[in-house]
Amino acid sequence: MAQNDDNLLKKIAGHAKEYGFIFQSSEIYDGLAAAYDYGQNGVELKNNIKQYWWKAMVQMNENIVGIDASIFMHPTTWKASGHVDAFNDPMIDNKDSKKRYRADVLVEEYIAKIEAKIDKEVEKAQNRFGDAFDKAQFLATNPNVLRNQEKIDEINARLAKGLDTGDLADVKALIEELGIADPVSGSKNWTDVRQFNLMFSTELGSVADGASKIYLRPETAQGIFVNFLNVQKSGRMKVPFGIAQIGKAFRNEIIARQFIFRMREFEQMEMQFFVKPGEELAYYEQWKERRMKWHQTLGLGAEKYRFHDHLNLAHYANAAADIQFDFPMGFKELEGIHSRTDFDLKAHEEHSGKKLQFFDTVENESFVPYVVETSVGLDRMFLSVLSAAYTEEILEDGSERTVLKIPAPLAPYQVAVLPLLKKDESGLPQKAREILAELQYDFNCQYDEKDAIGKRYRRQDAIGTPYCVTIDHQTLEDNTVTIRDRDDLSQIRVSIDELKGKLKETTSMESLLRRL
Ligand code: GAP
Repeated sequence: MAQNDDNLLKKIAGHAKEYGFIFQSSEIYDGLAAAYDYGQNGVELKNNIKQYWWKAMVQMNENIVGIDASIFMHPTTWKASGHVDAFNDPMIDNKDSKKRYRADVLVEEYIAKIEAKIDKEVEKAQNRFGDAFDKAQFLATNPNVLRNQEKIDEINARLAKGLDTGDLADVKALIEELGIADPVSGSKNWTDVRQFNLMFSTELGSVADGASKIYLRPETAQGIFVNFLNVQKSGRMKVPFGIAQIGKAFRNEIIARQFIFRMREFEQMEMQFFVKPGEELAYYEQWKERRMKWHQTLGLGAEKYRFHDHLNLAHYANAAADIQFDFPMGFKELEGIHSRTDFDLKAHEEHSGKKLQFFDTVENESFVPYVVETSVGLDRMFLSVLSAAYTEEILEDGSERTVLKIPAPLAPYQVAVLPLLKKDESGLPQKAREILAELQYDFNCQYDEKDAIGKRYRRQDAIGTPYCVTIDHQTLEDNTVTIRDRDDLSQIRVSIDELKGKLKETTSMESLLRRL
């Protein structure tokens, strides 16, 4: 079905609301921008994503452990980490529309349009030359591609220089020279570019007691760094080892749109891997591959993921890449993998006066470990699963259905138990409840006896339940039930004794983890 991307995202958001996945926060008061609530089905999907991550990252790695640090931290944490001084976004306002934008994003969107032109050239050539097409050679020699690439490189370099040196006047000049207009109003009447710190602050203690300013953490990583020695010593961990955490983070994003892609309150799943200095780049490559595999194992389509290496590195990093996902609004960052050197631990040593080092008994020396970080947004993971799963289909009989083809182990419910008839006299509801009681130990189940069976199947399709188990008259005779498959609509008959085993084959978290 041809539809533009905005439409698709709107449809997904509408579906997510209608079926209890995601609601706008405080909707009865007209909502709060960029804050969302997860509903009864959303929370199940979200918890399953967390479980997939926690199992794969923590419980199945003997040298990685998890923590749950508090959101409030000593204010000096954020001075040491650089967030007080440098966690800024360059913002610019349009004087006519009064809309606020991130200056760097306006430039990046301009670059994305040039990249799209390159992609189009490649596609055209691919169609023309077929199997003989050599993409690498084409990219290295085609004059149009080279000209566009040169333009991209120039713009990138100038933007990076302006941001790095704080020459925000030149960032504004760049926007004007490129003729970038307000995407909403088309106006080019811009204010100066200003830096805007993204941390939310609040007061700790009452004012009379001399309240002090503290921050809501903008990343979970710092809770890991300040606990490095606590965990290392109490867990007798040996480098290389990792500390992982899932938790809320808060950023006062200038532009917070695109549904749950960019929020002001969100969740991160982060892991800091502590290694010997000099070994970080090898681990960085390993973690890039391992994280990509974790994503691709979900089976949403390998072509939906790609790496995007950072050319302009943050001052503390010596390598960084994003795993991008093909969201309805195009390829965007889903996860970051960063080689953070010893920047954070050293900074905390300096600001706290405490040593944050590992004693290597073989070499008989202490060192500050280097860190490779993997950081994925839980809400973005949710959006990646939801948007890849959302499918509108026309069936063979001409009817339409909207189905969420969520990977079975992540689906809110793995099984729906449906007696064909609602009437007690039929004996079917009692039998169905018996089966439900047994299945509930292993699966999250729904029980539904209302409406015709076809309607009930559609309801389960809409929330992504991979299997419907139907109890009919034959069940009472021979102890068999039908299992209906969400994706191919096939139905098989199995004996109740085999039911659990059959359902587990594809819906258990184990079945997913074994594919890693
Ligand atoms: N500790 C490193 C760090 O925080 P980041 O690239 O700023 O790195 C990591 O964030 C991930 O957190 C991103 O890849 C994204 O998935 C998620 N994330 C960041 N800002 C977000 C926001 N405003 N809303 C939702 N997710 C966000």
